[in-house]
Amino acid sequence: MSRFLSLIIAVMLLAGTALADPLGLGRVAEPDEIAAWDIDVRPDGTGLPAGSGSVAMGEEVFVEKCAACHGDFAEGVGRYPALAGGMDTLQDERPTRTVGSFWPYLSTTYDFINRAMTVGYGEPASDDEIYAIIAYILYSNDLVDEDFVLSRENFTSIRLPNEGGFYMDDRIQTEHPLFIRPACMKNCKDEVQIIARVETAFIPADMNRDGSGKTRLAIGETLFGQCRACHQIGDGAQNGVGPVLNGIFGKPAGSNDRFDYSDAFAMMADEELVWDFDALNAFLKDPQGFIPGTTMNFTGIEEDFDRNALIAYLQAQGP
Ligand code: HEC
Ligand code: HEC
Repeated sequence: MSRFLSLIIAVMLLAGTALADPLGLGRVAEPDEIAAWDIDVRPDGTGLPAGSGSVAMGEEVFVEKCAACHGDFAEGVGRYPALAGGMDTLQDERPTRTVGSFWPYLSTTYDFINRAMTVGYGEPASDDEIYAIIAYILYSNDLVDEDFVLSRENFTSIRLPNEGGFYMDDRIQTEHPLFIRPACMKNCKDEVQIIARVETAFIPADMNRDGSGKTRLAIGETLFGQCRACHQIGDGAQNGVGPVLNGIFGKPAGSNDRFDYSDAFAMMADEELVWDFDALNAFLKDPQGFIPGTTMNFTGIEEDFDRNALIAYLQAQGP
């Protein structure tokens, strides 16, 4: 019995004992009722009922119950799937995936036909008929001879060609270790060589802009002029239209108790946004884009260098 099924049954039993009494509803499921649900068949043959069926019998049943959709030779009709053929097509751009070419285990055939095809699409079939149908599908795939008889006893001796094409997900062993190696934090290279500079990366505050003679910090201070209408910074700064920005670099967003932030902002605060370089950089580039609904009525600063300079200035301000 699968774990999932056990769980359902456990829940049914619980519901039976816990609820039946006070409400007078329901009753404990009978063993044969549980057995009727317990129909899964596993690759190792667990769950297969007693029974057997021949290719010849399978052909008759298949033609009667399945061929309207899957074709007399399991080759598929119209857009209904083929159950046979397609060998050696798995590498093709449009592979033909059938029981013969693709499926890893024969047990899936029993399970699927019993669970879905004889109920949802076709007509009910007995256990023997299902064995026979599977024998016929194997025959249609050239995997057994015409006098073959499939039974519970020889079921697991049938191996499908593509079984080896499936394997257990082993990424926890094979890939995970590659991503959890401790990162090197210092002296990782013998010789350090700067091969490129990226504009958006954080550049030290005292670096100047193309020989203008003005430091980045000074440029940042000038740029902050655009913010002063709403924000104060430095000794004795007060909240205005916008909150005080003292020590904002590295602070959690929306953490000024005396300022009444917008809902959009409060939400970012709940999500624990912190004003590190990347967050400030994104916010100052496009405030509305970064925090849709913010009441900071400011279009943003287009130039990467200017945002850099401004952030350097903000970072240089004390708490
Ligand atoms: C009314 C049409 C119809 C009938 C009758 C029918 N099937 Fe199907 N069959 C389908 C459709 C549609 C699918 C694809 C369903 C899906 O993927 O959920 C399918 C899928 C299948 C598959 C899986 C194919 C794959 O590669 O995914 C098998 C095996 C199968 N059917 C066997 C049978 C058998 C055996 C019978 C007769 C007992 C039968 N079917 C009767 C329509 C039908
Ligand atoms: C028109 C007024 C206005 C201008 C101009 C403005 N801001 Fe704002 N700013 C606000 C308001 C209002 C908020 C609070 C937003 C909210 O609650 O949605 C805010 C929030 C902020 C925050 C987040 C503060 C916190 O406590 O989390 C930072 C950082 C910020 N602004 C930086 C700047 C910078 C840098 C500039 C200049 C480039 C600027 N702002 C220009 C009004 C303004």
